Amino acid sequence: MCGIVGCTTTERADRYLLPALQALEYRGYDSVGVAIATTDGTVTTVRSINRIGDLTAQLEARTGARLSGTGIGHTRWATHGDVTEANAHPHQDCDGLVSVVHNGIIENADVLRAELIAEGHRFSSGVDSEVICHLIEQSLVGASDSGLQGAIESCVRRLEGSWAILVMETSTGRLFATTHRAPLLVASSDNGHFVASDVTAIAPWITAFRVMSDGDLVELGSPLRWIAGGVEVAPPEALGLSWSSSFLSLAADDPDFMGREIAEQPETVERILSELAPRVSTGDLWRELGLPHFRRVAVLGCGTSLNAGRIIAHAFGAFGAIVNTAVTASEAGAVVLDAETLVIAASQSGETADVLRALDELQTGRGRVLALTNSMHSTLARRADGVLNCSAGPEIGVAATKTFVAQVVTGVCLALSAMVARGTVLRAQADAIVDDLRRTPDRLENAIAVSRQWVPDIVESVRDAQGFLFLGRGAGVVYAAEGALKLKELTYRWAEHYPAGELKHGPLALVEEGTPVVVIESADGRLSANVAEVRSRGGRVISIGGPGSSIPVVDGNPEALTRSGRVSQGRGGNTFAACGPLESVVPMQILARELAIALGRDVDKPRNLAKSVTVE
Ligand code: AGP
Repeated sequence: MCGIVGCTTTERADRYLLPALQALEYRGYDSVGVAIATTDGTVTTVRSINRIGDLTAQLEARTGARLSGTGIGHTRWATHGDVTEANAHPHQDCDGLVSVVHNGIIENADVLRAELIAEGHRFSSGVDSEVICHLIEQSLVGASDSGLQGAIESCVRRLEGSWAILVMETSTGRLFATTHRAPLLVASSDNGHFVASDVTAIAPWITAFRVMSDGDLVELGSPLRWIAGGVEVAPPEALGLSWSSSFLSLAADDPDFMGREIAEQPETVERILSELAPRVSTGDLWRELGLPHFRRVAVLGCGTSLNAGRIIAHAFGAFGAIVNTAVTASEAGAVVLDAETLVIAASQSGETADVLRALDELQTGRGRVLALTNSMHSTLARRADGVLNCSAGPEIGVAATKTFVAQVVTGVCLALSAMVARGTVLRAQADAIVDDLRRTPDRLENAIAVSRQWVPDIVESVRDAQGFLFLGRGAGVVYAAEGALKLKELTYRWAEHYPAGELKHGPLALVEEGTPVVVIESADGRLSANVAEVRSRGGRVISIGGPGSSIPVVDGNPEALTRSGRVSQGRGGNTFAACGPLESVVPMQILARELAIALGRDVDKPRNLAKSVTVE
């Protein structure tokens, strides 16, 4: 995980690095640090296990040579080594020849460390990344001195694992970037040259950026030197920034990023549907991807993306009786797929290491891969055979909210369009389903308003509860899973989800007087029996559904409760389904956020987590 940024600018580097690190904090916030070249050929390094404000204070308090416009920065999600200042990046070699920041994992760090120590190197941290500094030092001072570029090239030849690395030379202020299985973007503007893990870090100062590929080495400066396979090449095509950098800061009336992103869900879906809907019933959305015929579908992902993937997989089955499965990406190694399986890799960031590894593991015999992502320049997007943008815009809160609904709606449109293209669903039938989908923004808007009215009292009543159950049947089970995930990650309280019918097979033992049990209502009569079983054991039932439920976010139409069910009858008696009661996720997002706030949690940056999980 971790976020890294570097710049060569005319103004002091910290004026860029600190806000950039603030924007990258979603990638990890265990510690933060910068190294900035000074005008007299030295380097100032400040690091902290507190937040970025600490760096500002340290830089303000320093005396000595002026800070230049060249520097590197890092925000850490700890993998190797405790959360201490000594383990915070940037790191240096024994004699401070270079400063280094690293995102990724050096898998052979222990072996390299032992070798370097035997050769006399002194380590000052417990992190894997420090071996990079000493390997570069080794080449810089060794007999085969090949300059900084050669030293970096020979260093990465020794590394195993994944890395995005920035190296700044103390004596010259030269700054290099290189990458292998970790994202890095480079951009130039009137403000200077920038390199960062994510474009959000540098968006305020640029309008376009270039994506580094595995093995590229770039020297930041004028001119930009782009080296691939050891030779200087023309930089890749620049991509324009498609959204405003105002997304990255809170407006006066935004409570926090998560609160803003929950509120943005109706307009996000509205935007997606205005873009996709005209191409769904024609089958063009599918055809334009240029992917071959498939017989089966496997959707893979992690966390919230996996939950969205379950709904999407189900939609392929419901619209076209396509055999489908949802695969937990981190467990994909055991899954057997054949060449006629369309693999849909769902990942908001497109950088989730478990998803990227899953694609490697599925290489044998797998069919084509379609990336469903919110980042069209991500590693996943570049590795897939086709890409579908879920177009949610930047999501800063670590908890996924608007990207979940964006993935679901985009994926369901895809499934429907693919079935129209293969003739399983008639255009008129698809039109009816699209018309129903077009009501989603209103349903979400209503769900937000209703939840804001009902959730505060519920929060009060469950504030002291240590554990929660989330139950559903049919399509409701996935929403129950998403609700439990949100509650866990934001409040740090135990929460589990179950298909309601499973309760009596064990989990019912957890229910005691007052245990909060969130139920996603459905028209399935058996659900009321399961709820009665909870009530008779003293469980505090919080139902999410139509009129009369504890949080009545679903409109009164009984059909609405079973939108996971039949919309119309297709050829061969297929039943058509959209995405189930999507609006039921809203009260659970709001419940998790408001309970977290009541418990004093940081809702945008929950403990131990990071938004982009680039380690396995
Ligand atoms: C959800 O709220 C999460 N923070 C997490 O589960 C996330 O969905 C997961 O890590 C997958 O991320 P991705 O969509 O970027 O691949």
